[in-house]
Amino acid sequence: MYDKKSNMVPLKRRKLVSSHIGNTGTDCSGPEVPNKFPQVVLFLLERKMGASRRAFLSRLGQSKGFQVEEKFSRSVSHVISENNCGDEVRTWLDSQVGGQTPVHLLDISWYTESMRAGCPVEILDRHKLQEQRTDEAEVAAFSAPSYACQRRTTLVDRNTVLTDALSLLAENAELSEEDGRGVAFRRAAAVLKALPEAVTDMTQLRGLPCLGEHSLRVIKDILANGASSEVESMKQSERYKALKVLTGIFGVGAKTADRWIKAGIRNLQQLQDSGQTLNRTQRAGLEHYDDLGQPVMKAEANAIGQIVEEAVGSVLPGARVTLIGGFRRGKLTGHDVDFLITHPEEGREVGLMPKVVSWLESQGFLLYQKTTRNSYLEAKDGPARPSSNMDRFERCLSIFKLTKEEKGGRKQPETLTEDCTESVRAPDPDPRVQILRGERGTHEGGLEVDQTKPAGRKPWRAVRVDLVVSPISQFAFALLGWTGSKLFERELRRWAAHEKTMSLSSHALYDNKQKRYLRATSEEEIFAHLGLEYIPPSERNA
Ligand code: CTP
Ligand code: MN
Ligand code: MN
Repeated sequence: MYDKKSNMVPLKRRKLVSSHIGNTGTDCSGPEVPNKFPQVVLFLLERKMGASRRAFLSRLGQSKGFQVEEKFSRSVSHVISENNCGDEVRTWLDSQVGGQTPVHLLDISWYTESMRAGCPVEILDRHKLQEQRTDEAEVAAFSAPSYACQRRTTLVDRNTVLTDALSLLAENAELSEEDGRGVAFRRAAAVLKALPEAVTDMTQLRGLPCLGEHSLRVIKDILANGASSEVESMKQSERYKALKVLTGIFGVGAKTADRWIKAGIRNLQQLQDSGQTLNRTQRAGLEHYDDLGQPVMKAEANAIGQIVEEAVGSVLPGARVTLIGGFRRGKLTGHDVDFLITHPEEGREVGLMPKVVSWLESQGFLLYQKTTRNSYLEAKDGPARPSSNMDRFERCLSIFKLTKEEKGGRKQPETLTEDCTESVRAPDPDPRVQILRGERGTHEGGLEVDQTKPAGRKPWRAVRVDLVVSPISQFAFALLGWTGSKLFERELRRWAAHEKTMSLSSHALYDNKQKRYLRATSEEEIFAHLGLEYIPPSERNA
Protein backbone atom coordinates (compact mmCIF):
# COMPACT_ATOMS: atom_id res chain seq x y z
CA MET A 1 0.00 0.00 0.00
CA TYR A 2 2.11 2.90 1.19
CA ASP A 3 5.36 1.35 0.26
CA LYS A 4 6.08 -2.16 -0.77
CA LYS A 5 9.04 -2.48 1.49
CA SER A 6 6.80 -2.61 4.53
CA ASN A 7 5.85 -6.09 3.39
CA MET A 8 9.29 -7.06 4.49
CA VAL A 9 8.86 -6.13 8.13
CA PRO A 10 10.57 -8.96 9.97
CA LEU A 11 8.49 -11.74 11.35
CA LYS A 12 10.11 -11.40 14.74
CA ARG A 13 7.64 -8.58 15.39
CA ARG A 14 4.99 -11.27 15.66
CA LYS A 15 6.60 -12.39 18.89
CA LEU A 16 6.27 -8.88 20.25
CA VAL A 17 2.58 -9.04 19.59
CA SER A 18 1.86 -11.94 21.84
CA SER A 19 3.92 -10.51 24.69
CA HIS A 20 2.26 -7.15 24.15
CA ILE A 21 -1.20 -8.47 24.28
CA GLY A 22 -0.66 -11.34 26.60
CA ASN A 23 -2.59 -14.54 26.19
CA THR A 24 -5.39 -12.86 24.24
CA GLY A 25 -3.25 -13.48 21.18
CA THR A 26 -4.30 -17.07 21.14
CA ASP A 27 -7.97 -16.68 20.25
CA CYS A 28 -7.38 -14.59 17.15
CA SER A 29 -7.92 -17.46 14.78
CA GLY A 30 -11.36 -18.14 16.14
CA PRO A 31 -14.58 -17.35 14.28
CA GLU A 32 -15.48 -13.71 13.71
CA VAL A 33 -17.56 -12.05 16.39
CA PRO A 34 -20.22 -9.60 15.19
CA ASN A 35 -19.40 -5.92 15.49
CA LYS A 36 -19.89 -5.07 19.15
CA PHE A 37 -18.90 -1.37 19.01
CA PRO A 38 -20.69 0.35 16.10
CA GLN A 39 -19.28 3.79 16.99
CA VAL A 40 -15.74 2.55 16.54
CA VAL A 41 -14.46 1.83 13.03
CA LEU A 42 -10.79 1.01 13.12
CA PHE A 43 -8.09 1.14 10.50
CA LEU A 44 -4.57 -0.12 11.14
CA LEU A 45 -1.87 1.67 9.19
CA GLU A 46 0.46 -0.79 7.51
CA ARG A 47 3.27 1.76 7.28
CA LYS A 48 6.06 0.74 9.69
CA MET A 49 3.79 -1.93 11.16
CA GLY A 50 4.19 -4.27 8.21
CA ALA A 51 1.61 -6.28 6.36
CA SER A 52 1.85 -9.48 8.38
CA ARG A 53 1.65 -7.83 11.77
CA ARG A 54 -1.20 -5.66 10.53
CA ALA A 55 -3.10 -8.70 9.31
CA PHE A 56 -2.55 -10.47 12.61
CA LEU A 57 -3.67 -7.51 14.71
CA SER A 58 -6.70 -6.96 12.49
CA ARG A 59 -7.85 -10.54 12.92
CA LEU A 60 -7.28 -10.25 16.64
CA GLY A 61 -9.51 -7.15 16.83
CA GLN A 62 -12.20 -8.73 14.70
CA SER A 63 -12.22 -11.81 16.87
CA LYS A 64 -12.98 -9.56 19.82
CA GLY A 65 -15.91 -7.88 18.10
CA PHE A 66 -14.12 -4.76 16.81
CA GLN A 67 -14.78 -3.50 13.31
CA VAL A 68 -11.33 -3.37 11.72
CA GLU A 69 -11.39 -2.17 8.13
CA GLU A 70 -9.14 -3.58 5.45
CA LYS A 71 -9.36 -0.41 3.34
CA PHE A 72 -9.35 3.18 4.53
CA SER A 73 -12.54 5.13 3.95
CA ARG A 74 -14.36 8.13 5.34
CA SER A 75 -16.28 5.89 7.71
CA VAL A 76 -13.12 5.10 9.67
CA SER A 77 -13.21 6.75 13.08
CA HIS A 78 -9.91 5.61 14.56
CA VAL A 79 -6.59 5.29 12.71
CA ILE A 80 -4.11 3.16 14.62
CA SER A 81 -0.43 3.32 13.83
CA GLU A 82 2.81 2.12 15.29
CA ASN A 83 6.06 4.09 15.41
CA ASN A 84 4.63 6.88 13.26
CA CYS A 85 4.48 10.50 14.34
CA GLY A 86 1.28 12.48 14.00
CA ASP A 87 2.49 14.49 11.03
CA GLU A 88 3.49 11.39 9.13
CA VAL A 89 0.08 9.85 9.64
CA ARG A 90 -1.64 13.13 8.78
CA THR A 91 0.39 13.38 5.55
CA TRP A 92 -0.57 9.83 4.71
CA LEU A 93 -4.19 10.46 5.62
CA ASP A 94 -4.34 13.58 3.46
CA SER A 95 -2.97 11.60 0.54
CA GLN A 96 -5.76 9.03 1.01
CA VAL A 97 -8.80 11.24 1.01
CA GLY A 98 -7.29 14.53 -0.05
CA GLY A 99 -8.47 16.38 3.00
CA GLN A 100 -9.48 16.32 6.61
CA THR A 101 -11.56 13.59 8.13
CA PRO A 102 -12.72 13.55 11.73
CA VAL A 103 -10.66 10.67 13.01
CA HIS A 104 -8.66 9.87 16.06
CA LEU A 105 -5.03 9.31 15.26
CA LEU A 106 -3.94 6.84 17.89
CA ASP A 107 -0.90 4.93 18.90
CA ILE A 108 -0.91 1.16 18.91
CA SER A 109 -0.93 1.27 22.73
CA TRP A 110 -4.61 2.27 22.67
CA TYR A 111 -5.35 -0.74 20.49
CA THR A 112 -3.45 -3.25 22.57
CA GLU A 113 -5.01 -1.92 25.78
CA SER A 114 -8.44 -2.14 24.21
CA MET A 115 -7.72 -5.70 23.13
CA ARG A 116 -6.77 -6.57 26.66
CA ALA A 117 -9.88 -4.88 28.04
CA GLY A 118 -12.10 -6.48 25.42
CA CYS A 119 -13.65 -3.10 24.62
CA PRO A 120 -12.47 0.33 23.41
CA VAL A 121 -10.65 1.97 26.32
CA GLU A 122 -10.90 5.66 27.04
CA ILE A 123 -8.64 7.74 24.81
CA LEU A 124 -6.01 9.37 26.98
CA ASP A 125 -3.47 11.98 25.88
CA ARG A 126 -0.71 9.40 25.80
CA HIS A 127 -2.68 7.43 23.21
CA LYS A 128 -2.97 10.36 20.84
CA LEU A 129 -0.37 11.00 18.19
CA GLN A 130 1.26 14.40 18.59
CA GLU A 131 0.60 16.73 15.69
CA GLN A 132 2.27 20.02 15.07
CA ARG A 133 -0.54 21.20 12.86
CA THR A 134 -1.51 24.71 13.89
CA ASP A 135 -3.36 26.63 11.27
CA GLU A 136 -5.81 24.64 9.19
CA ALA A 137 -5.55 27.22 6.43
CA GLU A 138 -1.97 26.25 5.68
CA VAL A 139 -2.78 22.58 5.34
CA ALA A 140 -3.23 22.08 1.64
CA ALA A 141 -0.21 24.12 0.62
CA PHE A 142 0.18 22.15 -2.58
CA SER A 143 -1.65 19.41 -4.31
CA ALA A 144 -0.42 17.00 -6.92
CA PRO A 145 -1.93 14.02 -8.67
CA SER A 146 -0.02 10.88 -7.90
CA TYR A 147 1.14 9.75 -11.36
CA ALA A 148 3.95 11.82 -12.89
CA CYS A 149 2.21 11.58 -16.26
CA GLN A 150 -0.73 13.52 -14.81
CA ARG A 151 1.52 16.40 -13.85
CA ARG A 152 3.38 19.10 -15.73
CA THR A 153 7.05 19.08 -14.84
CA THR A 154 9.13 21.77 -16.49
CA LEU A 155 12.88 22.16 -16.21
CA VAL A 156 12.38 24.83 -13.56
CA ASP A 157 12.89 23.05 -10.27
CA ARG A 158 12.36 25.20 -7.18
CA ASN A 159 13.44 22.46 -4.84
CA THR A 160 16.80 21.39 -6.22
CA VAL A 161 18.36 20.94 -2.78
CA LEU A 162 15.68 18.39 -1.96
CA THR A 163 15.33 16.82 -5.39
CA ASP A 164 19.08 16.47 -5.85
CA ALA A 165 19.33 14.64 -2.54
CA LEU A 166 16.45 12.31 -3.37
CA SER A 167 17.81 11.72 -6.88
CA LEU A 168 21.15 10.75 -5.40
CA LEU A 169 19.45 8.25 -3.13
CA ALA A 170 17.56 6.95 -6.17
CA GLU A 171 20.76 6.65 -8.14
CA ASN A 172 22.50 4.86 -5.30
CA ALA A 173 19.60 2.42 -4.99
CA GLU A 174 19.64 1.77 -8.74
CA LEU A 175 23.39 1.28 -8.71
CA SER A 176 22.88 -1.22 -5.91
CA GLU A 177 20.20 -2.97 -7.98
CA GLU A 178 17.46 -2.02 -5.56
CA ASP A 179 15.10 -0.84 -8.24
CA GLY A 180 12.03 -0.66 -6.03
CA ARG A 181 13.73 1.76 -3.68
CA GLY A 182 15.12 3.64 -6.65
CA VAL A 183 11.67 4.22 -8.12
CA ALA A 184 10.28 5.28 -4.74
CA PHE A 185 12.95 7.99 -4.44
CA ARG A 186 12.47 9.01 -8.09
CA ARG A 187 8.76 9.41 -7.52
CA ALA A 188 9.31 11.45 -4.38
CA ALA A 189 11.80 13.70 -6.18
CA ALA A 190 9.40 14.08 -9.11
CA VAL A 191 6.57 15.26 -6.86
CA LEU A 192 8.82 18.00 -5.45
CA LYS A 193 10.06 18.94 -8.92
CA ALA A 194 6.49 19.68 -9.95
CA LEU A 195 5.78 22.05 -7.05
CA PRO A 196 5.28 25.72 -7.96
CA GLU A 197 7.24 26.95 -4.95
CA ALA A 198 10.15 26.04 -2.72
CA VAL A 199 9.30 23.87 0.27
CA THR A 200 10.43 25.42 3.54
CA ASP A 201 8.37 23.53 6.04
CA MET A 202 7.22 19.94 6.44
CA THR A 203 3.62 21.03 6.85
CA GLN A 204 3.59 22.11 3.20
CA LEU A 205 3.99 18.48 2.21
CA ARG A 206 0.70 17.35 3.69
CA GLY A 207 -1.47 15.65 1.19
CA LEU A 208 1.27 15.19 -1.37
CA PRO A 209 1.49 11.72 -2.88
CA CYS A 210 4.55 9.46 -3.22
CA LEU A 211 6.40 10.80 -0.20
CA GLY A 212 7.34 7.70 1.74
CA GLU A 213 8.65 7.55 5.23
CA HIS A 214 12.28 7.49 4.11
CA SER A 215 11.93 10.43 1.71
CA LEU A 216 10.09 12.45 4.35
CA ARG A 217 12.90 11.79 6.80
CA VAL A 218 15.49 13.01 4.30
CA ILE A 219 13.47 16.13 3.49
CA LYS A 220 13.00 16.88 7.17
CA ASP A 221 16.73 16.57 7.78
CA ILE A 222 17.51 18.98 4.94
CA LEU A 223 14.92 21.51 6.00
CA ALA A 224 16.24 21.42 9.54
CA ASN A 225 19.97 21.17 8.93
CA GLY A 226 20.57 22.30 5.38
CA ALA A 227 21.75 18.85 4.31
CA SER A 228 20.84 15.22 4.75
CA SER A 229 23.39 13.34 6.81
CA GLU A 230 22.43 10.14 5.03
CA VAL A 231 23.03 11.61 1.58
CA GLU A 232 26.26 13.29 2.62
CA SER A 233 27.73 10.13 4.08
CA MET A 234 26.56 8.12 1.08
CA LYS A 235 28.34 10.52 -1.27
CA GLN A 236 31.53 10.04 0.73
CA SER A 237 31.26 6.27 0.89
CA GLU A 238 33.87 4.23 -0.95
CA ARG A 239 31.24 2.01 -2.47
CA TYR A 240 29.22 4.85 -3.96
CA LYS A 241 32.34 6.54 -5.32
CA ALA A 242 33.52 3.29 -6.87
CA LEU A 243 30.09 2.57 -8.37
CA LYS A 244 30.02 6.04 -9.90
CA VAL A 245 33.46 5.75 -11.45
CA LEU A 246 32.92 2.24 -12.77
CA THR A 247 29.39 2.67 -14.11
CA GLY A 248 30.64 5.90 -15.64
CA ILE A 249 32.24 3.62 -18.22
CA PHE A 250 29.85 3.23 -21.16
CA GLY A 251 28.85 -0.43 -21.25
CA VAL A 252 29.30 -1.03 -17.53
CA GLY A 253 26.10 -1.52 -15.55
CA ALA A 254 25.43 -2.00 -11.87
CA LYS A 255 25.99 -5.78 -12.04
CA THR A 256 29.42 -5.56 -13.62
CA ALA A 257 30.48 -2.72 -11.33
CA ASP A 258 29.40 -4.73 -8.32
CA ARG A 259 31.37 -7.76 -9.49
CA TRP A 260 34.46 -5.61 -9.96
CA ILE A 261 34.05 -3.94 -6.57
CA LYS A 262 33.82 -7.38 -4.98
CA ALA A 263 37.10 -8.15 -6.71
CA GLY A 264 38.63 -5.14 -4.99
CA ILE A 265 38.45 -2.74 -7.94
CA ARG A 266 37.63 0.84 -6.96
CA ASN A 267 38.93 2.98 -9.81
CA LEU A 268 40.06 2.89 -13.42
CA GLN A 269 43.66 2.27 -12.50
CA GLN A 270 42.75 -0.78 -10.45
CA LEU A 271 40.46 -1.97 -13.23
CA GLN A 272 43.34 -1.75 -15.65
CA ASP A 273 45.73 -3.51 -13.26
CA SER A 274 43.25 -6.28 -12.55
CA GLY A 275 43.40 -7.60 -16.09
CA GLN A 276 39.58 -8.00 -16.14
CA THR A 277 38.30 -8.86 -19.57
CA LEU A 278 36.36 -6.00 -21.10
CA ASN A 279 33.91 -6.37 -23.95
CA ARG A 280 34.07 -4.18 -27.05
CA THR A 281 31.59 -1.63 -25.65
CA GLN A 282 33.46 -1.32 -22.39
CA ARG A 283 36.78 -0.92 -24.17
CA ALA A 284 35.30 1.93 -26.18
CA GLY A 285 33.78 3.35 -23.01
CA LEU A 286 37.10 3.28 -21.23
CA GLU A 287 38.90 4.75 -24.18
CA HIS A 288 36.56 7.74 -24.31
CA TYR A 289 35.93 7.89 -20.59
CA ASP A 290 36.57 11.58 -20.04
CA ASP A 291 34.77 12.79 -23.15
CA LEU A 292 31.71 10.70 -22.39
CA GLY A 293 31.70 11.96 -18.82
CA GLN A 294 31.34 15.53 -20.05
CA PRO A 295 27.80 16.75 -20.69
CA VAL A 296 26.79 17.12 -24.32
CA MET A 297 25.80 20.70 -25.15
CA LYS A 298 22.75 21.70 -27.16
CA ALA A 299 24.99 23.12 -29.92
CA GLU A 300 26.75 19.76 -30.17
CA ALA A 301 23.40 18.00 -30.32
CA ASN A 302 22.42 20.27 -33.21
CA ALA A 303 25.68 19.61 -35.02
CA ILE A 304 25.18 15.87 -34.67
CA GLY A 305 21.59 16.33 -35.82
CA GLN A 306 22.85 17.82 -39.06
CA ILE A 307 25.21 14.92 -39.59
CA VAL A 308 22.46 12.37 -38.95
CA GLU A 309 20.10 14.22 -41.30
CA GLU A 310 22.75 14.17 -44.00
CA ALA A 311 23.40 10.47 -43.46
CA VAL A 312 19.72 9.56 -43.54
CA GLY A 313 19.00 11.85 -46.49
CA SER A 314 21.84 10.26 -48.45
CA VAL A 315 20.79 6.68 -47.99
CA LEU A 316 16.99 7.09 -48.06
CA PRO A 317 15.64 10.35 -49.43
CA GLY A 318 12.35 11.26 -47.79
CA ALA A 319 13.21 9.64 -44.47
CA ARG A 320 12.71 11.86 -41.43
CA VAL A 321 14.92 12.45 -38.42
CA THR A 322 13.47 13.63 -35.10
CA LEU A 323 15.42 14.68 -32.04
CA ILE A 324 14.17 12.71 -29.03
CA GLY A 325 15.33 12.14 -25.42
CA GLY A 326 16.26 14.96 -23.10
CA PHE A 327 16.99 17.50 -25.82
CA ARG A 328 13.44 17.18 -27.12
CA ARG A 329 12.27 18.00 -23.61
CA GLY A 330 14.20 21.24 -23.86
CA LYS A 331 17.23 20.26 -21.80
CA LEU A 332 20.36 22.27 -22.56
CA THR A 333 22.73 19.39 -21.83
CA GLY A 334 22.52 15.63 -21.93
CA HIS A 335 24.55 12.49 -21.45
CA ASP A 336 23.92 11.59 -25.09
CA VAL A 337 21.89 12.66 -28.12
CA ASP A 338 18.93 10.56 -29.23
CA PHE A 339 17.31 10.45 -32.67
CA LEU A 340 14.29 8.68 -34.09
CA ILE A 341 14.26 7.92 -37.80
CA THR A 342 11.23 6.96 -39.88
CA HIS A 343 9.89 7.12 -43.43
CA PRO A 344 6.37 8.31 -44.32
CA GLU A 345 5.84 5.18 -46.41
CA GLU A 346 5.45 2.09 -44.24
CA GLY A 347 8.14 -0.50 -44.93
CA ARG A 348 10.59 1.84 -46.60
CA GLU A 349 12.47 2.09 -43.30
CA VAL A 350 13.33 -1.63 -43.30
CA GLY A 351 17.07 -2.15 -43.41
CA LEU A 352 17.73 1.54 -43.04
CA MET A 353 19.99 1.43 -40.00
CA PRO A 354 22.90 -0.55 -41.53
CA LYS A 355 22.92 1.88 -44.45
CA VAL A 356 22.99 4.91 -42.19
CA VAL A 357 25.73 3.33 -40.13
CA SER A 358 27.77 2.52 -43.24
CA TRP A 359 27.45 6.09 -44.45
CA LEU A 360 28.50 7.49 -41.09
CA GLU A 361 31.38 5.04 -40.90
CA SER A 362 32.57 5.87 -44.40
CA GLN A 363 32.64 9.53 -43.41
CA GLY A 364 34.63 8.77 -40.29
CA PHE A 365 31.94 9.88 -37.90
CA LEU A 366 31.79 6.74 -35.79
CA LEU A 367 34.23 5.77 -33.07
CA TYR A 368 32.01 2.88 -32.01
CA GLN A 369 28.63 1.46 -32.93
CA LYS A 370 26.51 -1.48 -32.02
CA THR A 371 23.41 -2.07 -34.09
CA THR A 372 20.55 -4.33 -33.08
CA ARG A 373 17.94 -5.49 -35.52
CA ASN A 374 14.22 -4.94 -35.18
CA SER A 375 12.67 -7.90 -33.41
CA TYR A 376 9.17 -6.54 -32.85
CA LEU A 377 6.25 -8.65 -33.90
CA GLU A 378 2.68 -7.63 -33.17
CA ALA A 379 0.95 -10.61 -31.62
CA LYS A 380 -2.75 -10.96 -32.33
CA ASP A 381 -3.55 -11.69 -28.71
CA GLY A 382 -1.70 -8.65 -27.39
CA PRO A 383 1.84 -7.97 -26.34
CA ALA A 384 3.84 -10.64 -24.54
CA ARG A 385 3.55 -10.17 -20.83
CA PRO A 386 6.91 -9.68 -19.20
CA SER A 387 8.68 -7.84 -21.98
CA SER A 388 5.82 -5.64 -23.10
CA ASN A 389 7.75 -2.48 -22.30
CA MET A 390 11.05 -3.66 -23.77
CA ASP A 391 11.38 -2.09 -27.10
CA ARG A 392 12.67 -3.94 -30.07
CA PHE A 393 13.33 -1.31 -32.65
CA GLU A 394 16.24 -1.40 -34.99
CA ARG A 395 18.62 0.65 -32.95
CA CYS A 396 22.18 1.80 -32.88
CA LEU A 397 24.09 2.72 -29.76
CA SER A 398 27.10 4.65 -30.92
CA ILE A 399 29.94 6.97 -30.11
CA PHE A 400 30.28 9.84 -32.55
CA LYS A 401 33.45 11.64 -33.30
CA LEU A 402 32.55 15.30 -33.33
CA THR A 403 35.29 17.57 -34.65
CA LYS A 404 35.50 20.98 -33.06
CA GLU A 405 34.53 22.66 -36.34
CA GLU A 406 31.29 20.74 -36.40
CA LYS A 407 30.13 22.33 -33.22
CA GLY A 408 29.77 25.61 -35.09
CA GLY A 409 29.03 24.67 -38.67
CA ARG A 410 29.34 21.66 -40.86
CA LYS A 411 32.84 20.81 -42.01
CA GLN A 412 33.58 19.51 -45.50
CA PRO A 413 33.28 15.74 -45.53
CA GLU A 414 36.49 15.31 -47.57
CA THR A 415 38.74 16.93 -44.99
CA LEU A 416 36.84 15.17 -42.26
CA THR A 417 37.41 11.78 -43.77
CA GLU A 418 41.14 12.30 -43.85
CA ASP A 419 41.18 13.80 -40.44
CA CYS A 420 39.13 11.00 -39.00
CA THR A 421 40.89 8.07 -40.55
CA GLU A 422 44.02 9.44 -39.02
CA SER A 423 42.62 10.08 -35.61
CA VAL A 424 40.69 6.83 -35.35
CA ARG A 425 44.08 5.20 -35.08
CA ALA A 426 45.49 7.96 -32.93
CA PRO A 427 45.67 7.45 -29.21
CA ASP A 428 43.16 8.96 -26.89
CA PRO A 429 44.81 11.96 -25.29
CA ASP A 430 42.40 11.72 -22.42
CA PRO A 431 44.78 11.94 -19.46
CA ARG A 432 43.14 9.25 -17.40
CA VAL A 433 43.30 6.77 -20.21
CA GLN A 434 46.88 7.82 -20.90
CA ILE A 435 47.75 6.99 -17.34
CA LEU A 436 45.88 3.77 -17.63
CA ARG A 437 47.63 2.70 -20.74
CA GLY A 438 50.96 4.05 -19.63
CA GLU A 439 51.08 1.34 -17.02
CA ARG A 440 50.90 -1.48 -19.46
CA GLY A 441 51.77 0.03 -22.76
CA THR A 442 48.60 -1.24 -24.33
CA HIS A 443 45.25 -1.94 -22.79
CA GLU A 444 42.55 -4.47 -23.46
CA GLY A 445 41.60 -2.77 -26.66
CA GLY A 446 45.04 -3.44 -27.98
CA LEU A 447 45.37 0.16 -29.12
CA GLU A 448 48.91 1.41 -29.22
CA VAL A 449 49.82 4.20 -26.88
CA ASP A 450 51.40 7.21 -28.44
CA GLN A 451 53.08 9.08 -25.61
CA THR A 452 54.32 11.80 -27.92
CA LYS A 453 50.99 13.56 -28.43
CA PRO A 454 50.19 16.26 -25.89
CA ALA A 455 47.19 15.45 -23.75
CA GLY A 456 43.89 17.31 -23.94
CA ARG A 457 44.42 19.01 -27.30
CA LYS A 458 42.68 16.76 -29.75
CA PRO A 459 40.54 18.55 -32.32
CA TRP A 460 37.46 16.40 -31.67
CA ARG A 461 35.45 14.90 -28.90
CA ALA A 462 33.55 11.66 -28.44
CA VAL A 463 29.77 11.93 -27.98
CA ARG A 464 27.29 9.16 -27.23
CA VAL A 465 24.51 9.01 -29.81
CA ASP A 466 21.46 6.73 -29.88
CA LEU A 467 19.67 6.13 -33.18
CA VAL A 468 16.32 4.37 -33.41
CA VAL A 469 14.35 3.46 -36.53
CA SER A 470 10.60 2.97 -36.38
CA PRO A 471 8.01 2.21 -39.04
CA ILE A 472 5.63 5.14 -39.50
CA SER A 473 2.72 3.12 -38.05
CA GLN A 474 4.54 3.00 -34.70
CA PHE A 475 6.12 6.43 -34.92
CA ALA A 476 3.89 8.20 -32.38
CA PHE A 477 4.50 5.43 -29.83
CA ALA A 478 8.23 5.49 -30.45
CA LEU A 479 8.29 9.26 -30.16
CA LEU A 480 6.39 9.18 -26.90
CA GLY A 481 8.43 6.28 -25.57
CA TRP A 482 11.79 7.79 -26.40
CA THR A 483 11.19 11.35 -25.31
CA GLY A 484 11.32 10.46 -21.63
CA SER A 485 11.99 11.28 -18.95
CA LYS A 486 12.54 7.72 -17.81
CA LEU A 487 10.26 8.24 -14.83
CA PHE A 488 7.60 9.86 -17.01
CA GLU A 489 7.69 6.80 -19.28
CA ARG A 490 7.50 4.43 -16.38
CA GLU A 491 4.54 6.32 -14.96
CA LEU A 492 2.75 6.31 -18.31
CA ARG A 493 3.05 2.54 -18.48
CA ARG A 494 1.97 2.19 -14.85
CA TRP A 495 -1.01 4.45 -15.48
CA ALA A 496 -1.95 2.47 -18.57
CA ALA A 497 -1.71 -0.86 -16.75
CA HIS A 498 -3.23 0.03 -13.38
CA GLU A 499 -5.78 2.67 -14.26
CA LYS A 500 -6.77 1.67 -17.80
CA THR A 501 -6.00 -2.06 -18.12
CA MET A 502 -3.89 -1.27 -21.15
CA SER A 503 -0.32 -2.15 -22.12
CA LEU A 504 1.75 0.72 -23.44
CA SER A 505 5.11 0.25 -25.11
CA SER A 506 7.22 2.24 -27.53
CA HIS A 507 5.56 0.18 -30.27
CA ALA A 508 1.89 0.11 -29.46
CA LEU A 509 -0.99 0.54 -27.05
CA TYR A 510 -3.08 -2.54 -26.38
CA ASP A 511 -6.43 -2.47 -24.63
CA ASN A 512 -6.59 -5.61 -22.53
CA LYS A 513 -10.35 -5.27 -22.00
CA GLN A 514 -11.32 -4.72 -25.62
CA LYS A 515 -8.54 -7.10 -26.67
CA ARG A 516 -7.37 -4.83 -29.45
CA TYR A 517 -4.59 -2.44 -30.35
CA LEU A 518 -5.41 1.27 -30.21
CA ARG A 519 -3.84 3.05 -33.15
CA ALA A 520 -2.45 6.56 -33.02
CA THR A 521 -0.61 8.86 -35.37
CA SER A 522 0.30 11.51 -32.80
CA GLU A 523 1.29 11.71 -29.15
CA GLU A 524 -1.90 13.68 -28.48
CA GLU A 525 -3.98 10.69 -29.60
CA ILE A 526 -2.09 8.37 -27.28
CA PHE A 527 -2.70 10.63 -24.29
CA ALA A 528 -6.37 10.75 -25.31
CA HIS A 529 -6.56 6.93 -25.53
CA LEU A 530 -5.09 6.82 -22.05
CA GLY A 531 -7.58 9.33 -20.70
CA LEU A 532 -4.80 11.74 -19.83
CA GLU A 533 -4.48 15.43 -20.47
CA TYR A 534 -1.84 16.04 -23.13
CA ILE A 535 1.53 16.94 -21.63
CA PRO A 536 4.01 18.48 -24.11
CA PRO A 537 7.64 17.27 -24.10
CA SER A 538 8.90 20.35 -22.23
CA GLU A 539 6.63 19.39 -19.33
CA ARG A 540 7.68 15.73 -19.15
CA ASN A 541 10.80 16.45 -17.12
CA ALA A 542 9.65 14.36 -14.17
N1 CTP B 1 15.07 4.42 -23.66
C1 CTP B 1 14.49 3.23 -23.97
N2 CTP B 1 15.22 2.09 -23.98
C2 CTP B 1 16.53 2.12 -23.70
C3 CTP B 1 17.15 3.32 -23.40
C4 CTP B 1 16.37 4.47 -23.38
O1 CTP B 1 13.30 3.20 -24.23
N3 CTP B 1 17.22 1.00 -23.71
C5 CTP B 1 14.27 5.62 -23.64
C6 CTP B 1 14.11 6.12 -22.22
O2 CTP B 1 12.94 5.65 -21.65
C7 CTP B 1 14.06 7.59 -22.41
C8 CTP B 1 14.74 7.87 -23.73
O3 CTP B 1 14.94 6.63 -24.33
O4 CTP B 1 12.73 7.99 -22.53
C9 CTP B 1 16.00 8.62 -23.59
O5 CTP B 1 16.90 7.91 -22.78
P1 CTP B 1 18.25 8.54 -22.30
O6 CTP B 1 19.03 9.04 -23.45
O7 CTP B 1 18.91 7.53 -21.44
O8 CTP B 1 17.77 9.70 -21.33
P2 CTP B 1 17.50 11.24 -21.58
O9 CTP B 1 16.18 11.53 -20.99
O10 CTP B 1 17.71 11.59 -23.01
O11 CTP B 1 18.59 11.91 -20.66
P3 CTP B 1 20.01 12.47 -21.10
O12 CTP B 1 19.75 13.90 -21.46
O13 CTP B 1 20.89 12.34 -19.91
O14 CTP B 1 20.48 11.66 -22.25
MN1 MN C 1 19.44 11.05 -24.03
MN1 MN D 1 19.91 7.65 -24.96
